[in-house]
Amino acid sequence: MDLDFTLNGRRQTAADVPGHLPLLHLLRQHFGLLGTKEGCGVGECGACTVLLDGEPVNACLTLAWKAKDREVTTIEGLAAGEVLHPLQQAFIESGAIQCGYCTPGLIMAAAGLLRLTLTPSVSEIKTALAGNLCRCTGYQDILIAVQLAAARMRGD
Ligand code: FES
Ligand code: FES
Repeated sequence: MDLDFTLNGRRQTAADVPGHLPLLHLLRQHFGLLGTKEGCGVGECGACTVLLDGEPVNACLTLAWKAKDREVTTIEGLAAGEVLHPLQQAFIESGAIQCGYCTPGLIMAAAGLLRLTLTPSVSEIKTALAGNLCRCTGYQDILIAVQLAAARMRGD
């Protein structure tokens, strides 16, 4: 099928998209958006998390055609030009990145949460990020980063 959708704020079309093609592969192979990572490929690691109409989804489990006439946001669409999103900046400043493979997925999952609330509790942050695995950081600095970004987005 031909697929019209909005990708990182721009209308896009992809022609002849196979019905079984995962959104992850459409983003990486067709659009060259390599920030969205493939970890497990079966919905267990969260490395492939993107926003679909603002909701975090695993792009490895989401068929590309489900994006038809909808809005997809990837890590590449989060910054405002040269200005990093508060989550990106906070992850850097808080040392929440080591190898970085999990980072785009974690940031997109956190972005989904901060769309809903800028005053998340630690428990709400943990729940929102529960589907995202990180084997390097121990998670503590990730929680701090999300709290820092939320505070800055609130204007604190
Ligand atoms: Fe999608 Fe692991 S690659 S959840
Ligand atoms: Fe390496 Fe998270 S920073 S997996």
